Amino acid sequence: MKLFGFLSLLLTFQAYQTYQTAFDLTPYIRTNPRQARKLSQVKDPLGIIPQSYAGFINVDEQVGNKIFFWFFKDVSGEPRAPLLIYVNWLPWYSSVVGVLYGSGPIRVTVNNETIGYERWTKSWVEKYPVLYIDYPYGIGFSYTESGEGYRASQEGNARDLLEFLNQFYTMFPKYLRRDLYIGGETYAAGKLLTPLAYLLHQNIQNKTSRIRLSGLFFSAPFYEPLLQAKYFLDLHYSLGLVSNCQKFEMAENVTHLEKRFQNPFNDVTISELIPTLLPYVGLNDDSNYHTQQGPPPQLYLLINSDHFKKIINAGHAAFRNNFDPEILPRLTREIVTSSTGKMATLMDNYKVLIYNGDYALITTTPMVEAALANTPWKGKKEYLSSERKLWSVNSELAGYYTQVGRFCRVIVRKSGYEVALDQPENSLLMLDQFITNGCIRP
Ligand SMILES: *[C@@H]1O[C@H](CO)[C@@H](O)[C@H](O)[C@H]1NC(C)=O
Ligand SMILES: *[C@@H]1O[C@H](CO)[C@@H](O)[C@H](O)[C@H]1NC(C)=O
Ligand SMILES: *[C@@H]1O[C@H](CO)[C@@H](O)[C@H](O)[C@H]1NC(C)=O
Repeated sequence: MKLFGFLSLLLTFQAYQTYQTAFDLTPYIRTNPRQARKLSQVKDPLGIIPQSYAGFINVDEQVGNKIFFWFFKDVSGEPRAPLLIYVNWLPWYSSVVGVLYGSGPIRVTVNNETIGYERWTKSWVEKYPVLYIDYPYGIGFSYTESGEGYRASQEGNARDLLEFLNQFYTMFPKYLRRDLYIGGETYAAGKLLTPLAYLLHQNIQNKTSRIRLSGLFFSAPFYEPLLQAKYFLDLHYSLGLVSNCQKFEMAENVTHLEKRFQNPFNDVTISELIPTLLPYVGLNDDSNYHTQQGPPPQLYLLINSDHFKKIINAGHAAFRNNFDPEILPRLTREIVTSSTGKMATLMDNYKVLIYNGDYALITTTPMVEAALANTPWKGKKEYLSSERKLWSVNSELAGYYTQVGRFCRVIVRKSGYEVALDQPENSLLMLDQFITNGCIRP
């Protein structure tokens, strides 16, 4: 979608439907996890959707914070395959969209105006169990009942996500014996999952968690917002899409904003912040520079249909693909807060894969590199003085990579923002090689 469209959605007040209570698995998880599991089964009358479980977990009963998940058991049934978590982000936000237009096993079909879905067999779930999560509240099906449950800090988000994970493992205890890899995109990766992994790391260190965190796989992570934003137009500039002066002006605008944020009583508003971080440069679609195409509108009609919601246990919950414009202003400062220190600790302690498509105009290669150059992890010096290697698959150039210790950096060729969508085979291969060998196997 156009970032401009994204912007106008953000800035215009929308009459939001009232949230309707959706079926809550938490009371069952507390008393009878086996029944909770049974109740969460996805019952597809057409038998197209592979075995999966979906529903809401209440992570804060006082304020009613309900996180929606969709969990696919791996199709291969390999008993030791690690569990993957995945959280989508901009421009399509919801991880349910990711299931139908990303790494998940279903695709939307349109035949003579009839919207349906079909099985897609190049998905990640063919090989790994994948837990897709809609987060934060107001994204996808996840919501907060009271309107007071929005978390405006990394710690608050991490706590809610960890509570979600703990309840998930209560429902599916055998997955506690599997390795866990936490993955996601841009803001979700940098600002929500990095704090979650960091909190989990602390709990593992002091032995209050048995979760076997093994690694992170982040697509175009956005974890040092004001630094990364200064490089937003570098790729656009090298492609010839903006002029040198536009590139400099944007970096200056961000620097100006950064100075204002240094004042604790700054008056930066969300309607200044978003266009400064995401300037509109005239393209239809920023997710893929080459194809200029986003998901078909029928995808949203399908997800929003009562029929589909019933199948995935979403009840009457409203589906949203954007932030509640009433909430967003409260998050202004949180949006720009860096999580670089946490990222450095994680890179020192776990396997980390950071990848992005070369055609993505959102959190581009220069933006990711800018953050990496400023992340004080142990391998930083070696990384910054290393060269890229060519990655070939069946004698075709698939991308470029660098490996330093347990850190793996990959740029996937001919791919936009949603790497699993544009390069399904290569993205799965990259993930396999990261999990089994630490990085691309030459
Ligand atoms: C398409 O749908 C219309 C309206 O339901 C119907 O009249 C028409 O015969 C259909 N065409 C085909 C090729 O199925
Ligand atoms: C373990 O670490 C977590 C996160 O810092 C903290 O909340 C918890 O109280 C700690 N537990 C113990 C027993 O130290
Ligand atoms: C920089 O900020 C000015 C003033 O808000 C705005 O008009 C201009 O479009 C911005 N430039 C870029 C490249 O974002």
